[in-house]
Amino acid sequence: MESKYAQHVSRREQTGLEDELGPILPGPGASDYERYLRTDELLSLQKTDDERNHHDELLFQVTHQSSELWLKLAAAEVETATRQMRGHDLRVAIRSLRRSILALKLVTEQLDMLELMSPWEYTSGVRPVLGHGSGFDSPGWNEMRRVVPAAGEAFHELRRAEGLSLVDVYRRAREYEDLYELAETLVELDERAVTWRIRHIRVVERIIGGEVVGTQGTPVELLAGLTHRKLFPELWDVRNELTELAKEND
Ligand code: HEM
Repeated sequence: MESKYAQHVSRREQTGLEDELGPILPGPGASDYERYLRTDELLSLQKTDDERNHHDELLFQVTHQSSELWLKLAAAEVETATRQMRGHDLRVAIRSLRRSILALKLVTEQLDMLELMSPWEYTSGVRPVLGHGSGFDSPGWNEMRRVVPAAGEAFHELRRAEGLSLVDVYRRAREYEDLYELAETLVELDERAVTWRIRHIRVVERIIGGEVVGTQGTPVELLAGLTHRKLFPELWDVRNELTELAKEND
């Protein structure tokens, strides 16, 4: 059997305290911490030293795998928020969306780690073992794309139920504070997704260059076009209308 990633160290060895309580949860792992979090499985999901073509594969796998985990949470919270909006629970929905927003922020920040790889070592050591692997097949981002439209729809149903146009939600924000804040939280989510994309392009340009093609033949330049895509375009367009309306009122 493959050797375990880390050996168990008892509480007594770590703290000098006696009366260690043994594990009570089912499943593999020496302690309940390891059993509940399934750390044996989790920590065996990265190539071992021997399996690696290049040292930086660990950095690459950890960054991508943890991004997928955060994106899984981000998408799940958007789905929860949609359910909460349908149940007219606006404040709770806002909190769920904030979790999703924070997850996107964390995923954006961890892109920094990839810039600690040297472009040559990545291209010659890591990239050759990625096959046709492409970010377009990221389950986390694809799940986000799948769940987001229903959240937008749930928001519009709420405002329509109040007899409000989108312009009304913004002009009468003080009267409909929760609805307004919900709209702005959706905009924030949208902005975070775009911020990730913009940051991702800089990372790509820094590591493989801006005038090459990706592992599936996509020109890197094409990625820049995607930064103009919006999750909720109508929530951005309404600002143009408001600016025009304010001018008319001058
Ligand atoms: C060394 C780091 C990275 C490089 C060189 C890189 C490179 C690329 C390239 C060249 C593309 C264009 C499509 C293709 O041909 O594959 C792409 C797309 C994409 N990558 Fe990355 N990537 C990196 C890190 C990441 C990370 C950490 C994620 C997080 C999940 C990610 C997610 C995506 C997504 C979702 C797309 C689709 C385009 C979009 O939705 O904007 N990439 N990447």
